[in-house]
Amino acid sequence: MYRSLREEKVFKDPVHNYVHVQDEIIWALINTPEFQRLRRIRQLGTSYLTFHGAEHSRFSHSLGVYEITRRIISQFERSGYSGWPHEERLLALCAALLHDLGHGPFSHSIEEAFDMNHEDWTCKILVGDTQVAEVLRRVSSDFPEKVAAVIRKDYEKPIVVNLVSSPLDADRMDYLLRDAYFTGVNYGTIDMDRILRMLRPFQGRVVVKESGMHAVEDYLMSRYQMYWQVYFHPVTRSSEILLRQIFRRAKELHQQGYGFRFLPDPLPGLFERELTVTEYLLLDEALVQTAFMQWTNEEDELLGSLCARFLDRRLYKYVELDHIDMEMVDQLRSAFAQVGLNAEYDLEIDFPTDLPYDVFRPDDELKGKEILLLDRQDNLREISEVSDIVRSISGLHRGRCHLYYPKEKLEAVKDQLPQHIAQLFEV
Ligand code: NI
Repeated sequence: MYRSLREEKVFKDPVHNYVHVQDEIIWALINTPEFQRLRRIRQLGTSYLTFHGAEHSRFSHSLGVYEITRRIISQFERSGYSGWPHEERLLALCAALLHDLGHGPFSHSIEEAFDMNHEDWTCKILVGDTQVAEVLRRVSSDFPEKVAAVIRKDYEKPIVVNLVSSPLDADRMDYLLRDAYFTGVNYGTIDMDRILRMLRPFQGRVVVKESGMHAVEDYLMSRYQMYWQVYFHPVTRSSEILLRQIFRRAKELHQQGYGFRFLPDPLPGLFERELTVTEYLLLDEALVQTAFMQWTNEEDELLGSLCARFLDRRLYKYVELDHIDMEMVDQLRSAFAQVGLNAEYDLEIDFPTDLPYDVFRPDDELKGKEILLLDRQDNLREISEVSDIVRSISGLHRGRCHLYYPKEKLEAVKDQLPQHIAQLFEV
């Protein structure tokens, strides 16, 4: 079954103005419980503790990625380009809409704490016993598996994968614009309309017309700025560390057979890493935050204090270092233990890194990770060969090490700490 809606539906959107829905399948997918759950998961996790506007949800981002994909395809079709496989239109739209379906509450912290991967969960939800799978099967019995293949990036036609996942894809364009809008920062405001007009289907891939190079440079610069100003903001990292510690402590206690006063399903299954798809879908930020609230009254003092810190936003302070080695970390931990601090929980080391754009050397295999420019003679060139700006930001790797610690606890024992350590932590 593949039908258009009798009348187009629209969602008002602060970033794209309107999101247009024309297909019955897309409308039905949006109305499944699995997709509606994304309203209860914030797009930027704990960033709202740094940028108070960042309360937007994965629901709005997913609609945005769908809308950008829809605009790209409709531009391809309007312009009559050859090389766009029309039969894949609905597949690309569904993959765009559903690409983040498997995100959990405070995704990055929970994934690290329990060694999970949201992409795996997305695929499980797509092919599992879910309403999303039921809707997708209305297209054809193997359609859920095809959408999962696009998400896993192993679908047979790279052009479909390119739209949803490549250095210049609908996902990245939406999150840059949306995250900039909701955090209120001045970076990330890319000229999306211009970039979209410059995209071309060519030899089974999405490429950029050479005259769009400056718009792409601007986009990569924005991405670079957003990483350092928003995504890797040290205060946000501090709140993520606290979250990971809460999960770690709760898991430890559960493994020791500790009797929680409050432990709703599916948290025991999460700690044991044995969740069915149905159980996984019960996880949202409301549930996790309710648990934190209840755990402030737990008998375990450490868990209670970590939860209170998170809820009351008493985050760890940090110092920045150019370099740290494991020997130094060991020294710090043993100094902490000697003065009665918790060597495991009162010191965390964080080392964020990101490259805005990975440049591929010419002899490397092309894996869809490069941005290709198309010149008037139909030659393709990788953007960093042409653009000085892209070349120079590609090498930027501004990762500095951060040490996080509860400042007031260190203040309390500062006279017992070796002086150089007290100085390092500014107490
Ligand atoms: Ni996304």
